[in-house]
Amino acid sequence: MRIDVLTLFPGMFPGVLDASIQARAAAGGHVDCHVHDIRKWADNKHDKVDDRPFGGGPGMVMMCQPLWDAVKDVEAMAPTSCRRIHFTPQGRRLDQELVEELAREERLLLIAGHYEGIDERVIKELEPLEVSVGDYVLTGGELPSMLLIDAVTRLQDGVLGHEDSAAEDSFSPRGENRERLLEAPHFTRPRTWRDQAVPDVLLSGDHEAVAAWRRDQMMKRTRSRRPDLLEQCTN
Ligand code: ADE
Repeated sequence: MRIDVLTLFPGMFPGVLDASIQARAAAGGHVDCHVHDIRKWADNKHDKVDDRPFGGGPGMVMMCQPLWDAVKDVEAMAPTSCRRIHFTPQGRRLDQELVEELAREERLLLIAGHYEGIDERVIKELEPLEVSVGDYVLTGGELPSMLLIDAVTRLQDGVLGHEDSAAEDSFSPRGENRERLLEAPHFTRPRTWRDQAVPDVLLSGDHEAVAAWRRDQMMKRTRSRRPDLLEQCTN
């Protein structure tokens, strides 16, 4: 999968893209990320990319021209067509279902807006899918872009070490967790820490008993922490 990001703050990305699973996915050729500075496409003397809003009000608005030209040029850098995504709190809420849909695309173009927003006319022309990462306001679309890159990368074939590890995630509709229950708790050595012992069943070597215990924990956790997920199941 190829991912292009358009941003005014390309310097925010390297730490995330160059670490951990993300770096491994890039080295293994599973994901090919390119971060582009929208300012490079500004066609005015001072590389201006934003201006005051018509009608007054606080903040600055990103202008049409630099973004429009950036999208056209970046899309032409590879022959594959892009699924365009614009991050905004007004968009469709990102959840695992949408992540899985986007993870199947061959190419994503992520548009990270900043300031008060982007001139509406360029959004109308580009017709991106508008995506929100939650009902809170961030200063821009960079962190949402990184969230999405992370979430789609770990679903690419061959990225996670254990073949099935994504299928057992909370919210995963695949593998054993088709009902999108929260995950069971995890434990590792030592067997006792600060007077807390690991549940005996996990040390029993009885795989069926472990599976039954995990399933019970998943139901209990989901019921107490996210009862809304159980309601979605039965609907
Ligand atoms: N930009 C600012 N806040 C955002 C949010 N919650 N989701 C997506 N993009 C945003």
